[in-house]
Amino acid sequence: MSSKLLNIESIRKQFPILHQKVNGKDLVYFDNAATTQKPLSVIESLNTYYSLHNANIHRGAHTLADRSTGLFEATRKSVQAFINAAESEEIIFTKGVTESINLVAQSYGRKFLTAGDEIILSQMEHHSNIVPWQIIAEETGAIIKVMNIHPNGELDMVHYQSLLSVRTKIVSCVWASNALGTINPIKDIIALAHQFNAVVMIDGAQAGSHIEIDVQDLAIDFLALSSHKLYGPTGLGVLYGKRKLLEAMPPYQGGGEMIKEVSFEKTTYNSIPFKFEAGTPNIGDVIAFNEAIIYVTVLGKDAIAQYEQSLLTHFVNGLYALQNTFGEKAISLIGTAKNKVAVQSFVMENKHHFDIGLMLDAKGIAVRTGHHCTQPLMHYYGIEGTVRASFAFYNTVEEIDILLESLKKMLERG
Ligand SMILES: Cc1ncc(COP(=O)(O)O)c(C=O)c1O
Repeated sequence: MSSKLLNIESIRKQFPILHQKVNGKDLVYFDNAATTQKPLSVIESLNTYYSLHNANIHRGAHTLADRSTGLFEATRKSVQAFINAAESEEIIFTKGVTESINLVAQSYGRKFLTAGDEIILSQMEHHSNIVPWQIIAEETGAIIKVMNIHPNGELDMVHYQSLLSVRTKIVSCVWASNALGTINPIKDIIALAHQFNAVVMIDGAQAGSHIEIDVQDLAIDFLALSSHKLYGPTGLGVLYGKRKLLEAMPPYQGGGEMIKEVSFEKTTYNSIPFKFEAGTPNIGDVIAFNEAIIYVTVLGKDAIAQYEQSLLTHFVNGLYALQNTFGEKAISLIGTAKNKVAVQSFVMENKHHFDIGLMLDAKGIAVRTGHHCTQPLMHYYGIEGTVRASFAFYNTVEEIDILLESLKKMLERG
């Protein structure tokens, strides 16, 4: 249990959920790409909010309303700093990455796409970065083009360049693949798209907790993040958008908060970010999310990435050792790109991924099995699904050895 930069033992103490038995064994939680666990500071913030501060925000003339408004807006400022946005008004709170992408597709897409315009996605997208574009493409007559990938799970950048043209209006691409772990070269993707005046939406669901984010340096137009994959509460996400784009977009939903003046004849809309935050937002969770951002910032993304890479390397080496013993087909790695977050998918010959998941669960090991909401990617590999282990900074080499030992026993049994 070691890292030069992080005290893993003391970190683990901050995550109460990790200290339990599952099926009689110590829990080994390797499903971090699906959702991360929450530190005490986040859990306690929720308790404090509902015990002391709970009030609706932005419109109350009383102390509790002022207090919760201040705490809520403080998170917006923290997110701004976390991703180096130019202004806090460019940060919109949503339900998650899924809603952030739907917002851009429905608002920007509906206003700016016309028949024959092209939207470029990649073969490795999560369904939440495919279906919203299909819906708007059907409505507007826009056409979806798909960037190829190489067998190791890296994007085919030559193919990408061949797809770009004056017809390209939107490029929407995942920063780090949830199924493969591949970190995509988004700076290049964005720069190339901008040569054709296309706007770029980046799905940052898996990047937020591992990779340093600077939206200005990367020139990102839209970025979607998810709180629950960043050690924060569920049901909460962020949409970052450049001011000039957000201002040009119509509202996504109508209701309270997002208006300036309402009459039956005409309604005028609030300024950003409120134009896109109709109704009472997820106040308590937004406030607790601030604690998650602080937690990750204090640990430091570089230290986190370095430690998680050592876990990934340990696991991958272990899988290759199993291949050496049992044969290459017995256990195959899916996603072997050079640049990856700490996610590794694999399949085993003659074993269904779901059965492997159940056998591991019996030993207290939580992994994800299935298509990981990336069915087009699974089709590319000619498989139905994988087993996926995804690591976080509270995981240990010892836990990975428990997983490797369990896989070895399965292979021995044949
Ligand atoms: C790459 C990727 N995109 C989008 C999503 C959806 O995110 P959310 O749960 O915040 O809607 C996920 C969640 O698994 C993901 O991994």
